[in-house]
Amino acid sequence: MDEFAKVIFDGKTFNLPIVTGSEGEKAIDIRMLRQKTGLITYDPGFGSTGSCKSAVTFMDGEKGILRYRGISIEQLAKHSTFVETAYLLINGELPTYSELNKIRVQLNDYSLVHEDMQVFFQNFPRFSNPMGILSTMVNALRSFYPVLDDVEESINSTMLRLLSKVRTLAAMSYKISRGHKVVYPRQDCTYCANFLNMMFDTPVRPYILDEDVVKALNLFWILHADHEQNCSTSAVRVVGSGKVNLYAAISAGICALWGPLHGGANQAVIEMLSDIHKDGGDIDNVVARAKDRNDSFRLMGFGHRVYKTYDPRAIIMKKACDKILSKMKINDPLLDIALKLEEVALKDPYFIDHNLYPNIDFYSGIVLRTIGIPTNMFTVMFAIGRLPGWITQWKESIDDPDWRISRPRQLYTGLKEKKYISIEDRK
Ligand code: ACO
Repeated sequence: MDEFAKVIFDGKTFNLPIVTGSEGEKAIDIRMLRQKTGLITYDPGFGSTGSCKSAVTFMDGEKGILRYRGISIEQLAKHSTFVETAYLLINGELPTYSELNKIRVQLNDYSLVHEDMQVFFQNFPRFSNPMGILSTMVNALRSFYPVLDDVEESINSTMLRLLSKVRTLAAMSYKISRGHKVVYPRQDCTYCANFLNMMFDTPVRPYILDEDVVKALNLFWILHADHEQNCSTSAVRVVGSGKVNLYAAISAGICALWGPLHGGANQAVIEMLSDIHKDGGDIDNVVARAKDRNDSFRLMGFGHRVYKTYDPRAIIMKKACDKILSKMKINDPLLDIALKLEEVALKDPYFIDHNLYPNIDFYSGIVLRTIGIPTNMFTVMFAIGRLPGWITQWKESIDDPDWRISRPRQLYTGLKEKKYISIEDRK
């Protein structure tokens, strides 16, 4: 039976249809609201706004559930690789052996970047932020690899090219920032192993691949691969809705991810934990500051717009953190601080009342640190992981029969019409 929500305004009743998602969640379809009533909705931060229908990722923030294409993040973390997960997101199903082999060959074929792009890297100022460099380089790919006439083929090759080249670009930026020679991708390495080798191999110290480190990186990227309509994914969809090329839309996503309230939080957590360590580990003071309304300080790695319980990715990441630290026989004081901080915060009425739990970033930085990734590359690591999600959501949006250019409205609160005063008469 069709359901409706009633809007009573100006003495009249309007029926707006209710649409239901596959997990039973309901939404009011307000597309005709303005036409019927003259009203618009007001929802800064979009907390109550569904911007699209999507069949990619399901999240239940109250129960702490996350699934890609129906498969739980726990299952994927246990059994899958990042490439398989990327395939699942983009194609809707896990690959067969032959499909996986095909994509591996394609990723290998696309892994080199045009030699001229190295010149760009050389000319960035020494301390440029790697996120700014990555977004620029991804945008520049469009000039080096123009779109083909066959739309379908062009989209497919652009998606694969991006997936493969982004890790080459990221590793190149790191090497060049250190004044080292760029390491080329290797045909005999898997996706994650290749990235690690490009990052850390040097002519004087060959990088020895460790299966557990490769696994940890696979896990990190699987857990970041998609997260429905978050800030950067929404940026990709909004920018993409103007029908720009995929490189430009992804470049916009990278810029959106950069901020400390979003992808930049993994770096901010490590910086916060390091500061606490340097200041002698006074956790009570940090928690007190986070609760103080007059202090802008927030506990980084805590809280989430959707999760009102533990972020399920944080649970998996915490276990991975323990595992990789004990395997590498590292006793990281930052992990001890993180554990104490979590314990204190979770018992504190402020954090309980505000439903503030650790999010994935609370532990991911420690994992990245342990496998040797420098702190200023953390958000780049997140961006590489989120790429399959951005690509998938962009593809879904351009194929959506309900697609329209994104163009929200506003509630104007400025001055009413005012006369122009010529410069001689202004006081
Ligand atoms: N520390 C202290 N207080 C917090 C925190 C925090 N980390 N997060 C939220 N709060 C408080 C706010 O002060 C506010 O309190 P009030 O209602 O008493 O004024 C309340 O909780 C709600 O906060 P909002 O900012 O309205 O929540 P929103 O959903 O807009 O923000 C966000 C979510 C940005 C993630 C926020 O929790 C935050 O800033 N966390 C720290 C940064 C972080 O870890 N970001 C990573 C997010 S996950 C990701 O992108 C991978």
